[in-house]
Amino acid sequence: MSQLFELPWMGGAATHFYRRARPAADALPWGTLNASRYAPDLLLSVRRAWTEVSLNEYRAVASFAEVVRCMAEAMAPLDLLGMASDFIADEVLHCELAARIAMELGGAAPLTVDMDRFAIKADPTASAKMRLHELMVRVCCIGESFALGMGMPTLKLTSHPLIAGVNEMIMKDEARHHRLGALYLEWAVEDWDDETRERLARVTEETLADFAPFWTGEASPVADGITSRGFRVDHLHELGWLESARAQPLARRVAQDLLDPLARHGVHISDSARTTLFG
Ligand SMILES: [Fe+2]
Ligand SMILES: [Fe+2]
Repeated sequence: MSQLFELPWMGGAATHFYRRARPAADALPWGTLNASRYAPDLLLSVRRAWTEVSLNEYRAVASFAEVVRCMAEAMAPLDLLGMASDFIADEVLHCELAARIAMELGGAAPLTVDMDRFAIKADPTASAKMRLHELMVRVCCIGESFALGMGMPTLKLTSHPLIAGVNEMIMKDEARHHRLGALYLEWAVEDWDDETRERLARVTEETLADFAPFWTGEASPVADGITSRGFRVDHLHELGWLESARAQPLARRVAQDLLDPLARHGVHISDSARTTLFG
């Protein structure tokens, strides 16, 4: 059942202990975004985009909770499990930061979610180790790697101090989340046979198909610093976004590059899947 995406806040002791776990947010220059600088259509679009970031970060909270549960069930190395456990609070913080930016820009966009189909969940019919292999490929090797690959070049262009501060904080964490996938591959590969590799290749193809909208479709051309939708490119960058003419080729490259570490561990997507995904 669909419901409005909302983020209730308790305050008091809950805030105190949460801030103790993740104190850095308070040092950011909140209150410095001047929404009146931006065209109303651009503002609407960017508010929606930051709300979607917040929702995706919220999804990452649930996904890492599933990763941690599956790591315990599969008896993954304890230090790796400790590393992953810390990421849940990271994703809660990212969710908060993105939502606060949307609010500074005039408020979050109304988004609905179906919580029964919300988070990435492991296949309950698979063995504990296979559940974890699949989940790690989807969440870390693809999801976190894609977020990092898209976020780093965007960060270089972001000029507003608050947006840059938030993105820097998020990207520092995403780099560790991406690293978990690489470390996991090192540990897990010992157990993999051909059947496992084929299964993980199919998981890779399915997961990347969900990301394909980022690099397919019509990109909005830019003339004299204005997109065909009428958005000023410098304002988009200032607020942490790339114009589609720049974002689409980047997304394609990032998605293709993240296949390399998987291929080094013997997980190869088929030629036909490659053609379907990338043309
Ligand atoms: Fe995140
Ligand atoms: Fe992350």
